[in-house]
Amino acid sequence: MRFLHFCLAAGMLCLSLGGTLDVQSQETLLLKALGLKARLSPKTLAPVPPLLWKMFQRRSKPGPAHADAKEVQRPCWVEEFQVPGNIIRVFPDQGHFIHSREPQSLLCLQKRLYFNLSALEEDEMLTMAQLEIRFSQNWYQAASPARPFELSLYKATQMALLGMSGHTHSRQMLLEQSFVHLHKSFVFDLTQVAKEWRIPARNLGLILEIGVPPLPEGEFCSGIDSFLEASLFVVSLAPSQCKTPRKRRSTYYVPRITSNVCKPRRLYISFSDVGWENWIIAPQGYLANYCLGECPFPLTEELNSTNHAILQTVVHSLDPEGTPQPCCVPVRLSPISILYYDNDDNVVLRHYEDMVVDECGCR
Ligand SMILES: *[C@@H]1O[C@H](CO)[C@@H](O)[C@H](O)[C@H]1NC(C)=O
Ligand SMILES: *[C@@H]1O[C@H](CO)[C@@H](O)[C@H](O)[C@H]1NC(C)=O
Repeated sequence: MRFLHFCLAAGMLCLSLGGTLDVQSQETLLLKALGLKARLSPKTLAPVPPLLWKMFQRRSKPGPAHADAKEVQRPCWVEEFQVPGNIIRVFPDQGHFIHSREPQSLLCLQKRLYFNLSALEEDEMLTMAQLEIRFSQNWYQAASPARPFELSLYKATQMALLGMSGHTHSRQMLLEQSFVHLHKSFVFDLTQVAKEWRIPARNLGLILEIGVPPLPEGEFCSGIDSFLEASLFVVSLAPSQCKTPRKRRSTYYVPRITSNVCKPRRLYISFSDVGWENWIIAPQGYLANYCLGECPFPLTEELNSTNHAILQTVVHSLDPEGTPQPCCVPVRLSPISILYYDNDDNVVLRHYEDMVVDECGCR
């Protein structure tokens, strides 16, 4: 990903200097570096799920100056779920409520859940899927506190019967759980099911049912209508962007440099300047920096040079025309995370290695 840094730095410099390079091909390069084929254009901007927002904030906190081992982020690893991954997507539910013909008094809620996983690229490895079902309030079965209600989740297995409710052979039970309290949210691990769903024809969604056991009298379903939404958290690993393990950066700030010796220079990349503010939720930009400067003879230790670079400066000093100076390049880079909407209106948190130049060297 060293290439990216040059693109980013060179690209933005050219843009800001109004240079001769075609802005559109610069943008294409930038998008490619972010693992995207084209600029995204989400239609409806759903609110960012609180958990994802929290995860983003955790990742964008500046690390402590003397990084304590606990704070160092393992690359391509999602600490919150303890699984490998560099992309976290939240898929909104696109299923409909099922209205059964015969009134089923004991069934308070019956809904099809559908998550379109087609946003996952073929080479991504799905490592975790977690279903979250949310309610707007804590509902409590006041009439009979000790009486639980049942939450059942089925995997739909046959398209033709989806509209009908009760057919047991068109669905396969995934779980059934009793609750006394209706919590504000329930989470279930659906990793195995979601892996199957990556073959689009196999994804017929889920059926969610919430019911109460028979009771002689009364309306026990009230409160279930506080059902808000269901969403699927999916963690995946795009191997092409998870290669080298890197240390998390320990500082955001690179001091201004006056000398002409190889050093990191300040470069702020603003996503709104490139017109991406409508799909990148956060950050609005970041301090990418770049490397620039001379690698003069004799190379000092601060220039983080290789033996080869030292020899090259010696040869250069003897034969300036025939052999160039070593190059001033990034030798330590650190990652950032970006929160954005994709074209299917999913909210995506994606981790990118090697986005910030921390140190330069003569190579
Ligand atoms: C899933 O999303 C893709 C891409 O947006 C779309 O082409 C496809 O029709 C969707 N599938 C369903 C079943 O909605
Ligand atoms: C070389 O690395 C050291 C720490 O290892 C760092 O302090 C220094 O700034 C680096 N040099 C450059 C030119 O970035």
